Amino acid sequence: MLPRDPTGFEMEEFHKVRRLPPYVFEQVNRLKASARAGGADIIDLGMGNPDLPTPKAIVDKLCEVVQDPRTHRYSSSKGIPGLRRAQAAYYARRFGVKLNPETQVVATLGSKEGFANMAQAITAPGDVILCPNPTYPIHAFGFLMAGGVIRSMSVEPDETFFPPLERAVRHSIPKPLALIINYPSNPTAHVASLDFYKDVIAFAKKHDLIVLSDLAYSEIYFDDAPPPSVLEVPGAMDITVEFTSMSKTFSMPGWRMGFAVGNERLIAALTRVKSYLDYGAFTPIQVAATHALNGDGSDIAEVRSVYKRRRDVLVETFGKAGFEVPPPAATMFAWAKIPEKFRPLGSLEFSKLLIEKADIAVAPGIGFGEMGDDYVRIALVENEHRIRQAARNLKRFLSTADETMHNVISLNAHRQG
Ligand SMILES: Cc1ncc(COP(=O)(O)O)c(C=O)c1O
Repeated sequence: MLPRDPTGFEMEEFHKVRRLPPYVFEQVNRLKASARAGGADIIDLGMGNPDLPTPKAIVDKLCEVVQDPRTHRYSSSKGIPGLRRAQAAYYARRFGVKLNPETQVVATLGSKEGFANMAQAITAPGDVILCPNPTYPIHAFGFLMAGGVIRSMSVEPDETFFPPLERAVRHSIPKPLALIINYPSNPTAHVASLDFYKDVIAFAKKHDLIVLSDLAYSEIYFDDAPPPSVLEVPGAMDITVEFTSMSKTFSMPGWRMGFAVGNERLIAALTRVKSYLDYGAFTPIQVAATHALNGDGSDIAEVRSVYKRRRDVLVETFGKAGFEVPPPAATMFAWAKIPEKFRPLGSLEFSKLLIEKADIAVAPGIGFGEMGDDYVRIALVENEHRIRQAARNLKRFLSTADETMHNVISLNAHRQG
C-alpha cells in the first residue's frame, strides 16, 4: 500500500526508499516490544548488540580528553593521525601487514558507515556486485542504495565457493565490479583460511574485481586460530579494502568507530566521499579509540572469554533442550538450523513463535537473505544465567509443541513464495 499525504492522496514511494524494504527484524522487534509491554520476560538473543561495558580505561580516557575545549571543535573526517597510526600498528602486529597511515587507512563512523560510503564512492548505476547470501544487510543494501545490482553468492569458504562465482562472472552483464567477503561471517560464523583468501585474490585479479572484505569479527574467535586478514595475501593490496570495527572487539558499538584499510585508490575514493559528508567522530572518541588500539590486548582477551563461555552454555543447554546448535568458531553468533518439524514455517514465523511461546527473541535467517530462511541467528548477548533460562523455556516449548501447536501444523501452509 502506498503512503498517503495529509489529504489522503496516495503518494509514490521515493526511488531510494523503494530499494529499502522495511527491516525484517522490525517485525520481530515489534512483537518483542508488545510481549514485554504485556509483562513477558523476553530473553533477547536477537540483535547483535554487545551487552558488555566498554573497558574502564577507554571510558576514562574519553572523560579526560573531553575536558579540553580544543577537542570540542570539528574533528578530522579521515581520522586524527594518531588513530590512523594506531590502526596501522594493529595490522602490523596482528597480521604482519604494512600500511601507510597517510594513504592506506581511513577512520569510519563504524564499519557500517564505511562500507555504505565505499559503495557510494565506487558504484555506477547498474554495476553488478557479487554479494554473499545470507549476509549482514549493509553488504547488499549499501550497494542497492548506491544504484548497484546484487548477484548473490554462496558463503561457505571452501571448494563449493568458486564454481558458482565463476558462472556469475561469466554471465553477468555488465561484468561485476566487486566481490564482497565477510569472514568470520555474520550470520553464519564461517571462518576463512589464508589459503582460501589466496584463491579469492587470484580469482579477483584474473577477473578484474575489487575485493571488499568485512573483518568486523577479527578478534572474536574461540580456538587458537585467529582469523587472518585477506591483506596478508601477497598482492591483495592492489585490489582490496578491508573493514574492521571497534564495536565488538572493545565492546564499543555505540561509539561508532571503525576503519577501512587497503588499496590507496579505493581508500582515497572513500576519503573523498566522506570529506563531503562528515567531520569524523568526536575527537575525544578518536583519542579514546587510539588508546584502546594501543593497549596490551588484555581487554580483548576478556571479551573473547566471556563470549566463549556463553557459546559453550548455549550449545550444551539448547542441545539438551532438543535444538541442535553447531558451536561457532568465531563471532558472537550461532547459526542454527530450525528444528525440522518447524522448518516449513520459515524463519520469520518460527522466530515469532519463539517470542510468543518461549519468551526468546532470535534473528530470523530470512533477514540476512533468502538463503537464510531455514535458520535463525542466536546472538550471545545475554549472560550465561539468562541463556540457561532460555534453554529451559525452549525445552518446555519443544516438549509440548505437539499438543499445543496442532493448529499451527500443518506448517507447510505458512511458508510463502
Ligand atoms: C559483519 C558486520 N559488519 C559490520 C557491522 C557493523 O559494525 P559497526 O558497529 O562497526 O558499524 C556488523 C555489526 O553487527 C557486522 O556484524
